[in-house]
Amino acid sequence: MSKELVVRKIENGTVIDHIPAGQALNVLKILGIKGSEGYKVAIVMNVDSKKLGMKDIVKVEGKELSVDEVNKIALIAPTATINIVREYQVIKKEKVELPNEIINIVKCTNPNCVTNQPREPITPRFKLITDNPLLMQCEYCGRYVTREDVLAQFA
Ligand code: CTP
Ligand code: ZN
Repeated sequence: MSKELVVRKIENGTVIDHIPAGQALNVLKILGIKGSEGYKVAIVMNVDSKKLGMKDIVKVEGKELSVDEVNKIALIAPTATINIVREYQVIKKEKVELPNEIINIVKCTNPNCVTNQPREPITPRFKLITDNPLLMQCEYCGRYVTREDVLAQFA
């Protein structure tokens, strides 16, 4: 335990830990955090992890992200844990869990789907079929979408 942290502990906020190595920027993208919001954000990439070999970590200081908000990242980071920190202590720790319906995060891969028609923008909605391997179904055209499809959209 004598190893130093890459990034210091935060006083208040949210730590998203155990993100698969290389996915930290995609996690921020899914959360809609661009940097212009003004939060202090620390991104740690490719550090050693006992559980995963290598992992990424995202720390958002001064903001307690809601569990619903963070659960969206389970699409690309199913191993992630959400830690809520207050006065330097982890007061809540939860594993991410996918909602049964994935709304307005992923685009349908069917170019002819009504959700991809520029004339009348319709919010894409998918029903979760299985978590692992990730499989979801477009509620409009029935197209199945996998984790690889999601990764391709966020890369
Ligand atoms: N953390 C932080 N600031 C704090 C407290 C914790 O940045 N004030 C970070 C830690 O560096 C770690 C994560 O939040 O990346 C979870 O902290 P903790 O529960 O103390 O670590 P572990 O027990 O190793 O967590 P786990 O069992 O989930 O691996
Ligand atoms: Zn569709």
